[in-house]
Formats: sequence, structure tokens, C-alpha cells
Amino acid sequence: MADKQRLATQESIAVIGLGYVGLPLALAFAEKYPVVGFDLNPTRIAELQRGVDRTAEVEPAALEASSLVFASSLADIAHCSCYIITVPTPVDAFDQPDFTPLVSASRTVAQLLDEGDLVIYESTVYPGATREVCVPELVAGSGLEFNRQFQVGYSPERINPGDKQRPLASIVKVTSGSSPEAAERVDALYKTIITAGTYPAGQLEVAEAAKVIENVQRDVNIALMNELAVLFNRLGIDTLEVLEAAGSKWNFLPFRPGLVGGHCIGVDPYYLIRKAQAVGHHPEIIQASRRINNQMGGYLANQVIRLMLEHDVSVNRARVLVLGLTFKENCPDLRNSRVIDVVNEFVALGLQVDIHDPWADRDEAEREYGVGLIDAPQPGSYDAIVVAVGHTVFHDAGVAALRRWGKSAHVVYDAKCLFARDEVDGRL
Ligand SMILES: NC(=O)c1ccc[n+]([C@@H]2O[C@H](COP(=O)([O-])OP(=O)(O)OC[C@H]3O[C@@H](n4cnc5c(N)ncnc54)[C@H](O)[C@@H]3O)[C@@H](O)[C@H]2O)c1
Repeated sequence: MADKQRLATQESIAVIGLGYVGLPLALAFAEKYPVVGFDLNPTRIAELQRGVDRTAEVEPAALEASSLVFASSLADIAHCSCYIITVPTPVDAFDQPDFTPLVSASRTVAQLLDEGDLVIYESTVYPGATREVCVPELVAGSGLEFNRQFQVGYSPERINPGDKQRPLASIVKVTSGSSPEAAERVDALYKTIITAGTYPAGQLEVAEAAKVIENVQRDVNIALMNELAVLFNRLGIDTLEVLEAAGSKWNFLPFRPGLVGGHCIGVDPYYLIRKAQAVGHHPEIIQASRRINNQMGGYLANQVIRLMLEHDVSVNRARVLVLGLTFKENCPDLRNSRVIDVVNEFVALGLQVDIHDPWADRDEAEREYGVGLIDAPQPGSYDAIVVAVGHTVFHDAGVAALRRWGKSAHVVYDAKCLFARDEVDGRL
């Protein structure tokens, strides 16, 4: 390979897919290298060029100060030596991996590949996907020989959107490559921006598997907490008090019950499940966890209705205020929010639902879920108020302020245990 000995400092980088993962990454690399950020979505590019990041991961001042260039034209990234692909890896309506964005991005890059180039994938996949799904696209589109004329890396992203305490550079990065030289080149590149250091994995497949099991482990642990919450509710014991008591032991893990949404924990396990099935293994715990977590929305809605009945609050045509729609707290991301399961269950039972979420975008909520958001709930209007997402603004407002939206007889259900047990009428 002509450019095998290229120094990390000589790379010019294109980041393909400027979402929650791609934008902070492109910005970090732009401190050390010439970087072009590329996205299919012209609206996203136009917003970023104006200094607006709708994912709220990056401040306008940081965009303004950066040398990062944004582009939606292939000509603007054709000169790059390193392409980093950070496009989504969703599942389809049948929970099957949907490789459409990854294949499309690979085809895009394949057209531009020159001898000596490096392509790094960051999207979460199952072990084997880079070699089996992406590399054939790169070979077919470029006409180059894999590992001799171009090489590939896989370095999974581990950021936690909305979490300002743990920025990209502070999280150890797993790196890997399709050959020892590629592994070295990938590792050298990330070492220059990740102050926490890197963890070189021996194989692409090891790095892929390591990433997906991080999310599988969280999914399984939350499913266990959900199962326990359902049991403790039946037994009339407060789940959080039990978990806090158990947590006094040094090795009890601090997981909490709740809705599991988003495009990582609620999605990635399906990638591993399908790969396992393809090789004749049917994972029991991973699949059971997905089922348990997917049922929690309906369960929560039914808990609220029980609570209303216990408090003599009429359920017929009752008005419910759901607080929060995003898939997690303090983040505008609405994709795969399981709050919608709670809303749909209420609606199916004939209740009227209003949703208030200061973090969510009204148009996106309409597009994704066909629901409207209300900016300012009217005081004295609701029979039930459900804290569905633990946004700090709800916590800081306090229960008394939330109760002002309730009718004289109402219940407050706290699905996130944001408030003390005696401040609310029920909680998960
Ligand atoms: N968001 C997270 O918390 C997180 C954390 C770790 C890993 N991941 C993984 O990282 C990957 C990206 O996730 P994300 O949350 O940043 O996604 P995202 O949806 O926020 O952003 C993806 C971007 O890619 C663009 N895009 C899609 N197809 C494209 C193509 N063919 N060419 C160019 N641009 C294209 C989209 O327009 C979008 O702007 C996924 O595999 C995800 O599982 C996400």
C-alpha cells in the first residue's frame, strides 16, 4: 500500500453523517486535522453552516470557532484520506437490522476511494457487519482491493447525548482495523483527540461485539429492574426504596426501572439477536429483556388508571397531562421514544391526552408520532399528571407547580422517581 506509513498528522478527514455522533466527532477532529462534515440532509448542512445544531450537542460558539467545513457535495470530500462513517443503524418494522444508511454511505465513499485511503465505521452493528455488509460495497464501488489498496477500521461511538459531564474526549475509545497496519493507523488517529486514551481491540469483530454488548447489558439490567418493579408494585413495596437499600452493598448495580427507548439500548440488542439467530443460537435473556422493556409503556398507563380509581378520580373521558416525550431526559431526541406507548394506551382506553415537553420539537413530534405538543398547560385542567421523562426543568419546577395543572381532584404519577415518594400519589 502506497500510503501505509502515512502519519496520523497527515490525514484529511471526512465525517459522513452529522448527527448526535458525527457532529461532536467532526468538531473534535477539526482541532487537529482538516475536516469536512458531510450529510445527506441539506437542511442539516444549512443549519450547521448558520451555526445551529438542533441536537443541542454543540454550542453555536464552538461551531463558530471551529475550522470544520460542512458540505453536501461529494466533490468537497473527494480529496480526503480518511472517511469516518457515523450514519444511523435502525431496525425496520419487524425489528430486523436496517442497513440502508450504512450501505448507502459505503457506496458514497466507494466512489471517492483512492489507493491508501482508510474508511472507519462508528455506527453500532453486530459482530461481522463491517466485513460482511460494508466492505463488499467499498470493493464493488471502488474497484480497489481490500486491505491491499484501501483499509477499514471500526471504532464504536460511546457518547451519551445530553451528558455534558462526559464529553467525547473523556471516554476511552475502542479501536480496531482490518489489518495490523490499519489498526495502528486508526488507533494513532483517535489517540490524538481522546484524552482518556484508546483500547485497541484485536479484530474488527471484537470491537463491534464490545459495543453492542454494552447496550445489551444495559437493556438486560433495566429489564430485571422492570420485572422487579412490577413484582414490588404487587407486593405494595416502593421499588426505589428497595433499590436504594440494596444499593448500600458495594457490588449492587445502580440500575433503575423505566421505559427503554432511543436508538441505542432499545434497538442495538436486535442486531445481536438477529446475528445470533443467523448462526443458530436463540438468545433467551436478551430477547426476554426486549419483551419486558417493550411492555412497560402499557403497564405504566394501567398503573396510572389504577391510581386514579384508588383516589376516586373519574377515569371516563379523563384528561391526562403527560410530561415529557423525548426518549430520555434533557435531550431533544424523539426517536423511538416509548412514552408514545403510554400515550397510545391512554388514548385506547378513551382518555384525552395532552403532552408537554419543553425539550421536544413540535413539528418533529407531529411527524414522528402524529401528536401535538402543548406549550403551556392550563391550570386546573387535568385528572392525572404523569411525569414520563425526567427533565431537570420538571424537577426544578417542583411537584407543587405541576399540581397547579391538576383539577381539584387529581393524581400525580412519577414514572421517573424524580420526586420524593410522599410528594406524589404513585411512582414506578
Ligand atoms: N446517539 C447516540 O447516543 C449514539 C451513541 C453511540 C453510538 N451511536 C450509533 O452511532 C450511529 C449514528 O447515530 P446518531 O445518533 O448520530 O444518528 P443521527 O440520526 O443523529 O445522525 C445520522 C446522520 O446521518 C445522516 N445520514 C444518513 N444516511 C446518510 C448517508 N448515506 N450519507 C450521509 N449522511 C447520512 C443523517 O441525515 C443524519 O444527520 C448509529 O449507529 C448509532 O447506533 C449513537
